[in-house]
Amino acid sequence: MKIKVLNGPNINMVGIREPGVYGSETYADLIRKVEEHAKELGIEVECLQSNHEGTLVDWIQESMGNTDGFVFNPAAYTHTSVAILDAVKAVKIPCVEVHISKVEEREDFRQVSYIRQACVKTITGHGLDGYLEAMDYLVNEVLK
Ligand code: DQA
Repeated sequence: MKIKVLNGPNINMVGIREPGVYGSETYADLIRKVEEHAKELGIEVECLQSNHEGTLVDWIQESMGNTDGFVFNPAAYTHTSVAILDAVKAVKIPCVEVHISKVEEREDFRQVSYIRQACVKTITGHGLDGYLEAMDYLVNEVLK
């Protein structure tokens, strides 16, 4: 079983950007945690991060036939990108939407999520652990 952990713009800056919102753990910490968790679950994982919408769309499309599930934090593109929603719908790969912060308690412009309607679950406000919970959900509830 293979899961891709996709991250959108500025997620490579966690640990540096707004630590009061996103915490002090870094993107490298996230990758380490995800890879350790994948080992515990006995699955293959690939972590990808881009600041570019089209690159994320390319990676989603290229996942057809080689990926069983996505854990996806589209970051700011959550609130703007019809292209990312359409790509996730097109490939029909189960996707869990993850946000490090509790977006529902933040600004009005963060209350819209385009990708949500194509996702099997949304996890918000659990910090980096939210990615591990999303992996558990895919493995134990969706792909079992
Ligand atoms: C985020 C929330 C988004 O609103 C924001 O643009 C991000 C990160 C989160 O993980 O909490 O970049 O997706």
